Amino acid sequence: MIKTSSIKKVRDLISEQKKNTKSVGLVPTMGAFHEGHESLIKKARKENDYVVVSIFVNPAQFAPNEDYNLYPRDIKSDLLKAENNGADLVFMPNDKVIYPEDYSTYVTVEELTDKLEGKSRPSHFRGVTTIVTKLLNIVTPDNAYFGQKDAQQLAVVKRMVKDLNMPVKIVGCPIIRNQSGIALSSRHHYLNRTQMKTAVGIYESLKEGVKMIKSGTSDFGAVKERILDVLQNFGIKRIDYVEFNKWESLEPLRKPEGKVLISLAVRIGNTRLLDNVILDSPRL
Ligand code: PAJ
Repeated sequence: MIKTSSIKKVRDLISEQKKNTKSVGLVPTMGAFHEGHESLIKKARKENDYVVVSIFVNPAQFAPNEDYNLYPRDIKSDLLKAENNGADLVFMPNDKVIYPEDYSTYVTVEELTDKLEGKSRPSHFRGVTTIVTKLLNIVTPDNAYFGQKDAQQLAVVKRMVKDLNMPVKIVGCPIIRNQSGIALSSRHHYLNRTQMKTAVGIYESLKEGVKMIKSGTSDFGAVKERILDVLQNFGIKRIDYVEFNKWESLEPLRKPEGKVLISLAVRIGNTRLLDNVILDSPRL
């Protein structure tokens, strides 16, 4: 496995692969790998001849009051995990390479980014779509892998690639959970044991919501009440949002219609955690 922080080196290695008509897969990450990241690398390994993993904690997607400085960084362990899961190249640029002093170009996807996470974190997606565009331009992959864990990010990146005719296939990957059902997240580094127990309530609440919809409840207001109850019962009181949206357009829904995304963001201690489920509306 090769590691580099040089854009030129990445371009040289990729053009060599392309000369030999090899397919290239990219897994963009911010590091602090867990099994969620590893599942993306594994899938990329299965589906491509050459697998690139990028590790870059992207300052442009953090607001000034957010956890950019605290964000967990463990490059040694990440490199080991990348190699064990079959990565060929790890691209880990430094800030100056990505955002030189005169940097002034940003990519924005409108509307889709105003809701859910975008409402709580207004400049977040502009940072995400900008770095993802840059990584796609540097690596020029055939396939790029994103987790459903960040469902809105996945929808936004898919829309950007479609709108801007970017020649890449965006591959969505399922959420990896631990034995208690908690969706793995690098931000679990911030939680203590008691808080991890509390976090179990997040997926439990979503499962209750799914159960209600599957058993015929068509009023999402009632489903939301139930989800909020379960969260409260687990001691989760600070709830940013619980919403129902059409997957992948993210249009708000009041009742079942097509594929439904139920997503939420809550705070446990100072840590903001996300989770979601996507389900088919039952035929009534
Ligand atoms: P990061 O949070 O490191 O996540 C990298 C990728 O791993 C994302 O596509 C995310 O959805 C996926 N992922 C995280 N937890 C997961 C889980 N439990 N199961 C499955 N996949 C999971 O998302 C980002 O970085 C950044 O915004 C990035 C796209 C790299 C742009 O900076």
